[in-house]
Amino acid sequence: MPARARLIRGMTDPAAPRVRTLFTAEEIAGRVRTLAAEIARSEPQNLLVVIVLKGGFVFGADLVRALAGEGVRLEIEFISLASYGTALETSGEVRIRRDIEVPVAGRDVLIVDDVLDSGLTLKFARDLMHQRGVRRAAIAVMINKPEGRRAQIEGDYVGFTCPNYFVVGYGMDAAHAWRELPFVGVLESAPDEPAER
Ligand code: IMP
Ligand code: MG
Repeated sequence: MPARARLIRGMTDPAAPRVRTLFTAEEIAGRVRTLAAEIARSEPQNLLVVIVLKGGFVFGADLVRALAGEGVRLEIEFISLASYGTALETSGEVRIRRDIEVPVAGRDVLIVDDVLDSGLTLKFARDLMHQRGVRRAAIAVMINKPEGRRAQIEGDYVGFTCPNYFVVGYGMDAAHAWRELPFVGVLESAPDEPAER
């Protein structure tokens, strides 16, 4: 069933999965403004914002506009990364599905993603940027889940820290659904589909 139909069904069908709000759109907007102000204070030089697809697209879109409001000049690129393994267990190996299209040597790069969980994806992305000779690579994530960490990495700019929930909304999906929700929530139950990433 398409996500939209599921959302509508969820309003009427008690058996449909429900999303319990963890962070409201207003709370998220407040954090985005605060993070943008922090990033602006770091005085990034020749800033390239690298948005990690797909999950980082909503946070990335909000963050770059908040940065513009802070007077930060920047350019935007996208990278799509995938980790090998099953939906529930990652092998730890990350590969590039779609790369950025500009050289990054000497630039300040801000890598933007939805979730920092095991950290394997963002560790790979940051190492890649360092290999390519960036001046500075910082990481911004909306959700930090420290309990899942397997790589030694922390976010430089973090929206919210939460327990090891599987969260959806604000770009984050469960089995390709729920990315469009304007808030971050946790699935209460998904009787007809597993809540896989
Ligand atoms: P990592 O485990 O830190 O490498 O995270 C890899 C990717 O898994 C993240 O960029 C997200 O796209 C996805 N992910 C991890 N936890 C969640 C979650 O709770 N909800 C949705 N996606 C998640
Ligand atoms: Mg992701």
